[in-house]
Amino acid sequence: MTTYRIAPSILSADFARLGEEVRNVVSAGADIIHFDVMDNHYVPNLTIGPLVCQAIRPHVDVPIDVHLMVKPVDRIIPDFAKAGANIITFHPEASEHIDRSLQLIRDHGCKAGLVFNPATPLSYLEHVMDKVDMILIMSVNPGFGGQSFIPQALKKIAEARRLIDESGRDILLEVDGGIKIENIAAAAAAGADTFVAGSAIFGQPDYKAVIDAMRANLAK
Ligand code: DX5
Ligand code: ZN
Repeated sequence: MTTYRIAPSILSADFARLGEEVRNVVSAGADIIHFDVMDNHYVPNLTIGPLVCQAIRPHVDVPIDVHLMVKPVDRIIPDFAKAGANIITFHPEASEHIDRSLQLIRDHGCKAGLVFNPATPLSYLEHVMDKVDMILIMSVNPGFGGQSFIPQALKKIAEARRLIDESGRDILLEVDGGIKIENIAAAAAAGADTFVAGSAIFGQPDYKAVIDAMRANLAK
């Protein structure tokens, strides 16, 4: 049986009360904290960095999943590892040397992953599958929370699932963007096991009600 993981994106949390927000969402049943890093260069938005990761680290005991939407990639990796990140993913187009960036993340004791924008081919995985611990399929174009799920992502999730199964390796398959109570089961049916949700969770007053409803739909 597949183990499903819910990974709330704190991009939609109340940044003025971030410690409380991450504690609350973990008490509500979150398995992972998804941490979106945007640089106003690779994506047209600016968010949070290693200092904020370090600040929330003592508040939660679940893994922190750092999604780097930055270019260049490498020089910020050690800082996030030191700040307590457990998983670090990046966009292959943003790295000059993909294999080196993956190795750098692993050398710093974190799980490493590649992120695929809606128009980015999975062929980037071909020669690095043995260094990948997570594949993240974007179901929106990166940069903002609250966008609508792009249905073509389902086909790509299924393709990634096939590659993971063929590899025989234990690789998490995460989907990010527009995930809601209503469409989470479709993403799971396509092969995803880890679900990022920002606005769907933090946009509601009762985080547990949303996470429970997501899990109920995954169990059907
Ligand atoms: C988008 C980010 C997502 C975003 C998801 O660039 O990578 O993690 O916060 O937000 P929702 O769930 O609102 O689409
Ligand atoms: Zn993200």
